[in-house]
Amino acid sequence: MVLKTATSAIIRCQNVTYKKFDSLSKSEKTILDNINFEINRGEFVSIIGENGCGKSTLSKLLNGLILPTSGNVFVNNLNTKEPKNNLEIKKFVGLVFQNPESQIIEATIEEEIAFGLENLCCSPEFISQKIKQVLEYVDLKGFEKISTNTLSGGQKQRLCIASVIAMEPKVIIFDEPTSMLDTKSKKVIIDLILKLKKELNITIILITHNVDEAILADKVLIMDDKFHNKLFENPKEVLCSPKFINYEKFEYLTSSYILNSLKKLGYEVDTTKIDINDCAEEILNLLRNQKHATNK
Ligand SMILES: Nc1ncnc2c1ncn2[C@@H]1O[C@H](COP(=O)(O)OP(=O)(O)O)[C@@H](O)[C@H]1O
Ligand SMILES: [Mg+2]
Repeated sequence: MVLKTATSAIIRCQNVTYKKFDSLSKSEKTILDNINFEINRGEFVSIIGENGCGKSTLSKLLNGLILPTSGNVFVNNLNTKEPKNNLEIKKFVGLVFQNPESQIIEATIEEEIAFGLENLCCSPEFISQKIKQVLEYVDLKGFEKISTNTLSGGQKQRLCIASVIAMEPKVIIFDEPTSMLDTKSKKVIIDLILKLKKELNITIILITHNVDEAILADKVLIMDDKFHNKLFENPKEVLCSPKFINYEKFEYLTSSYILNSLKKLGYEVDTTKIDINDCAEEILNLLRNQKHATNK
């Protein structure tokens, strides 16, 4: 009999617990406690949770930068605890952090993108072709010789994404990539993330505080005991539910709050009409029906 242990999940967290010695309290602190979920190839999963709940810790566990205290993380069916899997896992899962400044180390854009490729011993021809290709992809075409410190925050974040996609990862984890950007640059980054999923079939894990962003995903992991640290199949349903919007720990969508409040007052409204125009239309319909009823 052949024992089948491999699954189709590209990322698998099995009873993952992570503890760390806290120098302040001089005791061991449990940062993640028995986390279980699976992510399939090509999925877009968002992760939300309050500050300090362990989101960044989880992102580091998912590419083997740190190892679970107990339980296992499998990436493409490779256990992160096996030292021989280390390089393959790091190549498989790319990380984009919140602050692009902390990721950029080189003086020019081409040197920044070449850095990781040189470490993989790629040929100079391959590297220069790749630099062109990824810069075009992130809309920084022709920026090769530009100094990295002349870029705006949004351009720096796009450069970080270009450096990561140059390594051809199958999964990219974005750890709050828009939290330091203005509204316009936020949209550019989110559109780029959606493009990576659609065109390159890259599996996306987006850590965010922003419900507008989290709701765009195929699934959402809510890192909170009240939601059992669970991966939900339908982000719209859970992030617009009264349980979520009445929970003081999280921000919520204004449109979803208005619709839920109207429903609570007994009005017949569809609480999933969270797009601002749909929400306005839902309220207008309600007013029209009321007017119609009083005119009768
Ligand atoms: N190197 C470390 N040493 C001790 N505690 C840490 C370390 N890194 C993170 N922590 C603690 O782990 C918890 C989770 O941190 P983090 O994963 O950064 O949370 P989040 O990204 O959700 O804000 C926090 O309470 C933080 O203080
Ligand atoms: Mg964090």
